[in-house]
Amino acid sequence: MTTTSSRTVVVTGASAGTGRAAAQAFGQRGDRVALLARGQDGLRGAADDVEAAGGTALALPTDVADFEQVDAAATKVENTFGPIDVWVNVAFTSVFAPFTEIAPAEFRRVTEVSYLGFVHGTMAALARMKPRDAGAIVQVGSALGARAIPLQSAYCGAKHGINGFTESVRTELLHDRSNVHITVVQMPALNTPQFDWVLSRLPRHPQPVPPIYQPEVAARAILRAADHPQRKQYWVGASTALTVLAQRMMPPVLDRYLARTGYSSQQTSQPVGPDRPNNLWQPLDERPDSDRGAHGSFDDRSISRSPQVWLSRHARSLSVAAAALTAGGAVLTRYRH
Ligand SMILES: NC(=O)c1ccc[n+]([C@@H]2O[C@H](COP(=O)([O-])OP(=O)(O)OC[C@H]3O[C@@H](n4cnc5c(N)ncnc54)[C@H](OP(=O)(O)O)[C@@H]3O)[C@@H](O)[C@H]2O)c1
Repeated sequence: MTTTSSRTVVVTGASAGTGRAAAQAFGQRGDRVALLARGQDGLRGAADDVEAAGGTALALPTDVADFEQVDAAATKVENTFGPIDVWVNVAFTSVFAPFTEIAPAEFRRVTEVSYLGFVHGTMAALARMKPRDAGAIVQVGSALGARAIPLQSAYCGAKHGINGFTESVRTELLHDRSNVHITVVQMPALNTPQFDWVLSRLPRHPQPVPPIYQPEVAARAILRAADHPQRKQYWVGASTALTVLAQRMMPPVLDRYLARTGYSSQQTSQPVGPDRPNNLWQPLDERPDSDRGAHGSFDDRSISRSPQVWLSRHARSLSVAAAALTAGGAVLTRYRH
């Protein structure tokens, strides 16, 4: 699917962070954007962003851990906007803590939101797209789905699981010669609000492992993937490419490296109390700061561009230019002789 005319797009986790930036970017293209998340304040802010950007917004309070809620939201979207063209799974939660300090119920909750939430979104999307034989599903993945790190066992397990089940679904779609496509965008560290509201048992304020990219970089990659979902994966940021490749070549070396550096690289020097509010079970709503927007608190340390996203967007013009140069070179060579 390569059309860029106005489409119906569903974004889960759209009230903040990556999903919020992606929703706004779809809005800029004039799309009809359904926003799924729990927080009313964030959803209102996201709807305003989409409308201000030129799109049409539909905010649907939804907990992605509950399939019935996700399916009901999908029905509402189609009744309001018509057939869903693109479904983007983004919603997530985590617990920042050593594995032994995570309660079973917390681990299960992270898995239900961050893993099963993607499964539920994919089920709801495929049930509608497959009979029509059209549509694109974009999974927002992570470099941590290829290489797990300490202090994020539940999250890393979910991200690995997403790659596994998506690969299986992809092979089924290929087997059926379906025109529905599913792809994963593997993200680097992003400057989003998660580090301010995820349940943390770390002594210091959590941070994304540098280099940190702005959520708009992720949003551009998501739009690119939604336009070209035939590709199996997209890697965003040099750090993602390095992580995936290093894990393929020398996983035991990375084990030791991460054991040594992974605790400090995920925390700033700022101490944090054990009772900071978190969004694991409920959204952080009805507070002065409950609409967090797309950006986290690391603007001053974040990069706004990714060479891979740029390369993948300009691959066609680059290959045309390379072909023209080659042809020009051949003509010159022939002329000289
Ligand atoms: N930030 C990074 O460094 C990074 C790196 C690689 C990949 N990613 C990926 O990017 C995606 C988004 O992460 P982010 O950093 O943007 O997170 P974020 O800023 O914490 O935003 C998470 C979003 O998910 C929603 N959400 C949380 N629990 C939910 C639930 N039970 N049901 C529905 N929605 C729920 C939140 O809204 P409500 O609380 O209002 O429901 C919010 O809209 C994730 O898939 C993550 O794996 C992030």
